[in-house]
Amino acid sequence: MKAEIIAQLTQSPTPVSGQHLSRSLGVSRVAIWKHIRALQVLGYDIEATSKGYRLHNAPDTPFPWRFGARADRLHYYPELDSTMDKAMELARQGCPPFTVVVAGRQTKGRGRLQRTWHSQTGGLYFTMVLRPLIPPAQSPLINLAAAVDLADTLDDLYGIDVRLKWPNDLLVNDLKLSGILSQIAADPDRIEFVNLGIGLNVRNSTRDIGQAAVALADLASAKVSRTDILAAFWDRLEQRLTGAHLADAIVQWRRRAITLGRRVKIQTLTDLYEGRAVDIDATGGLILQSDNGSRQTVVYGDCFHVGPNVA
Ligand code: BTN
Repeated sequence: MKAEIIAQLTQSPTPVSGQHLSRSLGVSRVAIWKHIRALQVLGYDIEATSKGYRLHNAPDTPFPWRFGARADRLHYYPELDSTMDKAMELARQGCPPFTVVVAGRQTKGRGRLQRTWHSQTGGLYFTMVLRPLIPPAQSPLINLAAAVDLADTLDDLYGIDVRLKWPNDLLVNDLKLSGILSQIAADPDRIEFVNLGIGLNVRNSTRDIGQAAVALADLASAKVSRTDILAAFWDRLEQRLTGAHLADAIVQWRRRAITLGRRVKIQTLTDLYEGRAVDIDATGGLILQSDNGSRQTVVYGDCFHVGPNVA
């Protein structure tokens, strides 16, 4: 109902009367008034004039009704500890694939390797529950694919040239724009779910983040919208996973990669690896060549570029 009211107000250059809304949507004028009130409380700037309602401004909040047929799968919270926890709860309860939990802000946002992910208002923080029909060993590909799809989304919407640092950081001019964290529940031969958590600096302050970071609003010339980004990314990833185009992510990732050809250090929870990053393998592992020419593949870790590109 809210989506329909907003659609009518958005389309009309003149105020839309309560009577017209009530007739076209088949509910009472009081019901319309209550929805308008609720929308105003949620931040919609709707003026009630003698000729009807006029929408001046809609907030860029990813409310479910902004996602059309997908509205049932979108769970929006103004504040959460972490979208990872809520998504875990829903995944364990058997929610459908491509269920998305979004938070306006997080009080305990988590990054990879047990770091904090600063999640102030203005950023986009969400976790998507995926149930891919692939062997568990291929699950790292999902993170790579998500990084590619988010980079392509931002390029498409705002013309931003996003680069990827292994395994799945999105950088612009070496500054971190977005990070991806995933949690997987799997048997040896079957994935139950992969929860893909994405944090994107959109309009949030990046001052206190503690690492060199940048927000989309500082890069894009057009007005940025968290709702548009999430909807477009969702399209891409859902098409990729339902259309079995996961393996294409390798080639696409290489095109945006800034890690390949560089000397890197990879920190895992237990070890430190060092060498030249020469390629990624079919499941997204980073192939390192050490000074004596030997090669090894690292499947997970935090990557630090310690030298220029010498590819
Ligand atoms: C990284 O360390 O680069 C990964 C950051 C992932 C942050 C996102 S924000 C939404 C989701 N909820 C969390 O607590 N973390 C992920």
